[in-house]
Amino acid sequence: MTEREFPTPQGEYFDFEDEVAFVSGAAGGIGRAVALAFAQQGAAVAVADIDEDGNEETAERIEELGSDALAVTCDLREADEVRAAVEATVAEFGRLDYACNNAGVEQDAVKAADLSIEAWDRILDTDLRGVFLSMKYQIPHVREAGGAIVNVSSGAGVRGFPEVAYTAAKHGVVGLTKSAALEYADTELRINAVCPGIVDTSMMDRVTDNREGGREAAVDQEPIGRMGDPEEIANAVVWLCSDAASFVLGHPLVVDGGQTV
Ligand SMILES: NC(=O)c1ccc[n+]([C@@H]2O[C@H](COP(=O)([O-])OP(=O)(O)OC[C@H]3O[C@@H](n4cnc5c(N)ncnc54)[C@H](O)[C@@H]3O)[C@@H](O)[C@H]2O)c1
Repeated sequence: MTEREFPTPQGEYFDFEDEVAFVSGAAGGIGRAVALAFAQQGAAVAVADIDEDGNEETAERIEELGSDALAVTCDLREADEVRAAVEATVAEFGRLDYACNNAGVEQDAVKAADLSIEAWDRILDTDLRGVFLSMKYQIPHVREAGGAIVNVSSGAGVRGFPEVAYTAAKHGVVGLTKSAALEYADTELRINAVCPGIVDTSMMDRVTDNREGGREAAVDQEPIGRMGDPEEIANAVVWLCSDAASFVLGHPLVVDGGQTV
């Protein structure tokens, strides 16, 4: 990891004091960075992940920053668990202003004809159905609060990559985001997406460990010449949730060092 620092955005637009955020897939990587960024803006944060230990650790880090935290162990593919996680958040903090639907899984380097149906289902269920279920239960609360939802897609949400299930799911997240944003455009709820490039997380470690060329080949895809840090994605999520982005709606914001340019 680099030693560069990424202070979160400052100023009145970014004061989330007395507000509440929900972040999925927050046991590590981008989700943990988003959860900590919300905490740095003063929000209470609920974190939801299937990885109980990592999720609890994120909650401790949120509390170390002086914010309230709630850790919910949850499989985002299961409707009852997602609904319970959202309800637990509102029961604990009394409201829900922001949600970042970030949990996701990657695809092995397997071409379409060789991809198992089980792998297709696992990826679509997590990366697309999980986002739909999350929004389904979050929207009434976030709408009431006049807040914002940011779904985490990918560069694979805006162009093709040789991984059909992941690319289909991430394109699906962009479509879901645009449509839901339009459905609620006449309310105070704004729904957007971020599309990260190659970001230095354990997901990227697993991907590069299993593909030809490893880390070097991944960095070669990046015109900026390096991987992104999770905090650089988190800052985009915070900006999209803030009033600084009050006219931004249904937008898949590419944050990718030029990978898809
Ligand atoms: N790292 C990248 O380069 C990159 C690039 C583009 C998009 N993304 C997307 O960003 C998001 C975060 O990726 P990351 O790199 O931080 O990955 P990560 O593997 O570090 O974190 C993903 C988190 O999601 C959780 N998760 C997985 N399945 C779940 C389920 N069914 N229920 C609840 N939690 C579940 C995992 O436990 C983990 O904590 C993903 O949606 C990913 O597709 C990542």
